[in-house]
Amino acid sequence: MAVHEILKMGDPRLLRVAKPVAEFGTPALKALIADMFETMAAANGAGLAAPQIGVDLRLVIFGYSKNPRYPEAPPVPPTVLINPVIEVLDGGRTEGWEGCLSVPGLRGVVERDERIRYTGFDADGHPIDRIADGFHARVVQHECDHLDGILYPMRVTDFTRFGFTSVLFPELDPNSDDD
Ligand code: NI
Repeated sequence: MAVHEILKMGDPRLLRVAKPVAEFGTPALKALIADMFETMAAANGAGLAAPQIGVDLRLVIFGYSKNPRYPEAPPVPPTVLINPVIEVLDGGRTEGWEGCLSVPGLRGVVERDERIRYTGFDADGHPIDRIADGFHARVVQHECDHLDGILYPMRVTDFTRFGFTSVLFPELDPNSDDD
């Protein structure tokens, strides 16, 4: 296992539309996923997409035990989601602060769908089918955006609510809970 460098905004590899994973259960896929979990943990992230370490595949991971910005949000177990599809459910749109390991030190308010169903596959090709709302739904939408070359600042509409974490949230650990 190895911690990988996380690409930063400006790197063209973050702007690609990633390719579907074609083969499941392979040692190479499992090694990639192990590296992604190690990389996410080292960076204190809530999620990580394969393109963020330069791998052009439709694969994201996420999971967290608690989030200081959403203290009421229930924990989400470590999840591998491959070739994901998101379906929007009734629940409207909701605003929330986001950060990104590829956009270090910054936060911005992004509008997302409050309630979604997401489907896809785990590392062995077993289907995943979950309904999520709130912060869980936000993390999934944020990570899946990475697979289409979209970084959260591209979704910011109000730049009066976009800035440096250390200024906006001086009480937060600067290394905590980037998405
Ligand atoms: Ni991100």
